[in-house]
Amino acid sequence: MTPRWAPFPSPYRTDFDKKDSDKTDPADTIRALGSSLKRDERMDLGLAGKTALVCASSRGLGRGCAEALAEAGCDITLNGRDAETLKAVGEYISGKYGVAVNHVVADVSTGEGQKALLAACPQPDILVNNNGGPPRKDYTELDREAILAGVIQNFVTPVELAKAVLPGMTERGFGRIVNITSMSVKMPLEGLDLSSGARAGLTAFLAGVCRQVAPHGVTINNILPGKFDTDRLKGGFERTAAATGQTLNAVKAASAAEIPAGRFGTPEEFGQTCAFLCSVHAGYITGQNILLDGGLYPAAF
Ligand SMILES: NC(=O)c1ccc[n+]([C@@H]2O[C@H](COP(=O)([O-])OP(=O)(O)OC[C@H]3O[C@@H](n4cnc5c(N)ncnc54)[C@H](OP(=O)(O)O)[C@@H]3O)[C@@H](O)[C@H]2O)c1
Repeated sequence: MTPRWAPFPSPYRTDFDKKDSDKTDPADTIRALGSSLKRDERMDLGLAGKTALVCASSRGLGRGCAEALAEAGCDITLNGRDAETLKAVGEYISGKYGVAVNHVVADVSTGEGQKALLAACPQPDILVNNNGGPPRKDYTELDREAILAGVIQNFVTPVELAKAVLPGMTERGFGRIVNITSMSVKMPLEGLDLSSGARAGLTAFLAGVCRQVAPHGVTINNILPGKFDTDRLKGGFERTAAATGQTLNAVKAASAAEIPAGRFGTPEEFGQTCAFLCSVHAGYITGQNILLDGGLYPAAF
């Protein structure tokens, strides 16, 4: 595939002239830079003691948000469908950051799952709405059932959870809702029409609601990931490699080369942006769509 952008020289990429096998993964450099900061060198986000309900957070971007919020001093409720993974991640986060972490094994898209989440964390100060995305499919392959499932996953579920937590937030005079959506809200991506449509609907719905709750110290924002190094992205690369006969590394390299930053984003970077949007410093940011894409979306606005 011809890269749409020649990768720009970046302070993190000093190895363009090296053989592939000798190159370091730029994401590892980013991680090392982040973790080299001592705790007292990090910005105080004013979140110590707050409670955060982070949906779909045992892996990937949700986990990145949970960790960054725990690092900022929040008690965390984790969620996912695999009990063993959740238990291990919960123990890791509470051990590393010294905050209280509980977890709820549940499908967040179901009424029972949401009930269990709200029972475990009845009055969250922070809600991170996240879920699996619909599988990549051509629109011609989507029947009514699949369309409704996608809309429930990425529109109905986050709206229902926002509705459930907003009264408490407005009453207490502080609240943050961050929705993990997608770059596909702004830019059509082949095979992701259902994801784009449901998430664009969510964006429009909450654009009105956020103005209603703004006088009460509550903000609602969306983070739009471009390409992040998570299991979801890996699944897509594996499918492309199998379909085209290319190696996994070749598929990944071609995909990274399309991004002006020359690399994929990391869940840690994603989480830090989420934590900042939840912070006391971000009280005047609401109804915004924050694109995290290393420059992939090709527009000035
Ligand atoms: N990664 C990217 O570059 C990218 C780009 C654009 C949009 N997005 C969107 O961002 C969201 C997160 O993506 P990701 O890359 O972090 O995915 P991921 O690495 O596959 O992680 C998904 C997480 O959600 C949990 N999960 C999935 N379905 C769930 C359900 N029904 N109930 C509760 N938990 C559930 C998974 O745990 P279990 O499987 O154990 O339940 C896991 O913890 C997705 O909606 C994706 O479409 C991602």
